[in-house]
Formats: sequence, C-alpha cells, structure tokens
Amino acid sequence: MTACEGKHIVLVGMMGAGKSSVGRVLARKLHRPLLDSDELIEERTGRTVREIWSSDGEAAFRAIETETLLAMLGAGEPAVLAAAGGVVLAEANRSALAESDAHVVWLLAHVDLLVTRVTNGVHRPLLDDDPERMLRQMYTDREALYTEVADAVVSVDHRSINEVAQAVLRCAG
Ligand code: S3P
Repeated sequence: MTACEGKHIVLVGMMGAGKSSVGRVLARKLHRPLLDSDELIEERTGRTVREIWSSDGEAAFRAIETETLLAMLGAGEPAVLAAAGGVVLAEANRSALAESDAHVVWLLAHVDLLVTRVTNGVHRPLLDDDPERMLRQMYTDREALYTEVADAVVSVDHRSINEVAQAVLRCAG
C-alpha cells in the first residue's frame, strides 16, 4: 500500500521539465491512464492550443485549462495527471489542487536545463519571441506557486526520465 494508492498523481512544473514524458512512464508502471491537460484541451475543443491562443487569447485558453484541470481531478479512476506549466497561475486551480486528495509532485528543473530543452514548439506560443528570457521570467514568477501546490518536489536535473519516474514513486510511497 503506497501513500498514493487510490489517489491521482499530478505532475506540475515548468514547460520542458518532462511532465508528459515522466507521466507516460509512471502511467505504464502503475497501470493507470495518463491525462495530459494540453492533449485533453485539444480533444475537448477540437482545436490546438495555438489556435485557441491566437484566435481567442490567453485568458480564454486559461479558462478552458481550468475546466479541464477540474475534469481531470474529478476522474473516478486514479490516474497520472500531467498538468501544463501554467495551471498554477489561477487561484482556482491552486485551490482545486489543494482541496483534492491528489498527490501533487513538482518536477523541478534548473532554468538553464529548461532553456536547453525547450523550443517554442507548436503548443507553446509564450515562447515564440525570446524563449530564454521568457523561461527565466516565468520561473521567477511561478516558483512560489509551484512550491505552494506541491506535496513533494523531485529534481529532474542530471536524471533520466526513468530515474525521475522512480523518484516520483519513491516520494509517493
Ligand atoms: C504553458 C505551458 C504549455 C501550454 C501553453 C502554456 C505555460 O504546456 O499549456 O503553452 O504557461 O507554462 P507544457 O507545460 O505542457 O509545455
């Protein structure tokens, strides 16, 4: 019996921290579904993150993100949740995470690692102009928010995806 039996495991952290890749490994190991917020947003709306962002704006995207996070947390079967980097921004999301029974793990990456890993990519309109400056600013702005929501912190620096997944399981156990 682990501390997380019957509970969702929610991975939070900056873009490029490896939430989706680590989430896939964890879901496989635990025989659980993986719910990835950006993917679910695209499934639910039939539009890409970038389309929503460019036609309706960030605020509209964030509202859909909140609905999606609440739906993920409400999933009956315990799952692994990969929550997009920005979920910590809204107070409603932070409260939902705190009030849920979920085990929230912050995948903490040094910002220099994020800079080497992350390219703007189709679903990352925030990084279109100056990815490095933006990532550094976002890290400064969000560090306290990740700290606030996290039940556990796992460093991803110098670790493979499998090693990070093992570390998540250790701190969940
Ligand atoms: C965002 C993170 C992205 C995506 C969008 C905004 C953010 O998801 O939701 O580009 O504000 O941190 P990933 O963290 O999965 O890259």
